[in-house]
Amino acid sequence: FKIPAIENEPMRSYAPGSAERKALVAAITQMEHELPFEVPCVVNGKPVKTGKIAKQPMPHDHARHLCTYHEADEATVASAIDGALEAKAEWESLPWNDRAAIFLKAADLVSGKYRYKLMAATILGQGKNAWQAEIDAAAELTDFLRFGVKFVEELYAQQPSKNAPGAWNRVEYRALEGFVLAVSPFNFTAIGGNLPGTPALVGNVVVWKPAPAATYSNYLIHQIFAEAGVPPGVIQFTPGPPPEVVAQAINHPKFAALHFTGSTFVFKKLWKDISANLDIYQSYPRIVGETGGKNFHIIHKSADIRNAVIQTIRGAFEYQGQKCSALSRLYVSSSIWSAGFKDQLLSEIAKIKVGTPTDWSNYLGPVIGRPAYDKITGYIRKAKDAGGEILIGGTGDDSKGFFIQPTVILSKDPKSVTLVEEIFGPVLTVYVYEDEDYEKTLDLIDTSTAYALTGAIFASERKALLTATNRLRNAAGNVYYNEKCTGAVVGQQPFGGARGSGTNDKAGSISIFYRFVSARSIKENF
Ligand code: SER
Repeated sequence: FKIPAIENEPMRSYAPGSAERKALVAAITQMEHELPFEVPCVVNGKPVKTGKIAKQPMPHDHARHLCTYHEADEATVASAIDGALEAKAEWESLPWNDRAAIFLKAADLVSGKYRYKLMAATILGQGKNAWQAEIDAAAELTDFLRFGVKFVEELYAQQPSKNAPGAWNRVEYRALEGFVLAVSPFNFTAIGGNLPGTPALVGNVVVWKPAPAATYSNYLIHQIFAEAGVPPGVIQFTPGPPPEVVAQAINHPKFAALHFTGSTFVFKKLWKDISANLDIYQSYPRIVGETGGKNFHIIHKSADIRNAVIQTIRGAFEYQGQKCSALSRLYVSSSIWSAGFKDQLLSEIAKIKVGTPTDWSNYLGPVIGRPAYDKITGYIRKAKDAGGEILIGGTGDDSKGFFIQPTVILSKDPKSVTLVEEIFGPVLTVYVYEDEDYEKTLDLIDTSTAYALTGAIFASERKALLTATNRLRNAAGNVYYNEKCTGAVVGQQPFGGARGSGTNDKAGSISIFYRFVSARSIKENF
């Protein structure tokens, strides 16, 4: 059999008066009316209420919370691991077409029946506006699930092309022996679904710890998996205090892989903890992580100013700069800067409205929580103290929600703190270089940070694009020409970076599936 043809999920417009806008507004209204929800752990298909209650506040209105959730305790994590290991044999031996059908059904549930509910949970819980929620919780999540099925079909078809006379060689792509730990981030509901979904699709069982700030949307995804037919025990939902849940999983002899998206610091810590445990494991664990970034745009003197300005604003400020891929350092040629780039950048940013994400006129919503607010505003202060000039923004208001104005800092020091360190907020630092220093500036981009996730080059001279591509060979896993450095599409731009940004296993492509299978070669003589 062959799976159906796969296309990227079409984006809906949400134009005023459109059916989709009405449906989304209705879903948000209903959710606001019904909240707060109570979210249990889910182990072996059954809700587990541990009584260790935590809250997911709404970032635009932090006095209210979207849900309370039961944090997994030691006994719950232990039974999640045991239950997953028990569910494994049946799940991995299920014929591939059955696993494929379950994931294709999950994709249909996300794109159809639950689209607006998942978006509403992403808007209220994670502070995305409607358009950002559509990109994430509707389109990208659907794509991860559907394209995942296509990639796995392609993976299984990778077979030796030669057979000696009288023999048949083949390769079997087995699930890993043991269980996978998925630790997902707050900033993409889609990644919440993808981190447990990818390993499960190839027959693994997964213990999933979602980010506290995305608990409710992630719980809905877990329910969707169950409704689509993922059997009890295959994906265990164990929200909880990260150190406890994660430590318990990686201290288990059957720990087989970590699928992680989050900070560089935490990922390195987990890698060290895993290495310290090597002697207790049955197998060498697979470690797959997408971590920090300090993503750049470089604007060459030949760039189209209008396009570069618009792409820069979108790259830096959509979802408040909280995409892993978000732009946070901008290198502009001095001739372009003074020929209109600066004026257009500032006048466009001045029009941006910041506020509650359910108000359709707001381009920016809140940042995710108190620690993020304090960290981001702290960086703005540090930049000022170090002589950076705030060209626009620089202020915040945390009285009701965690709102920070889109901020642009001009720095004369190419190694200033906000040009080097990850901020993860709506703060863009600009460095203006002399036109003749284009190549030197490329070297600066390459060497001044620990990260290598995304970057974009703006130039109409093709030679300038090539020079940058060659000199920045290892500075980004995703590079864009004349387009913002965010918005990788599943199946179109495999996503991920190296250096401090991750293991570069490329989400949204076939590559990542190789990390979650253990191949067996079989030679049969007739
Ligand atoms: N994949 C997203 C993007 O490219 C970020 O995680 O924007």
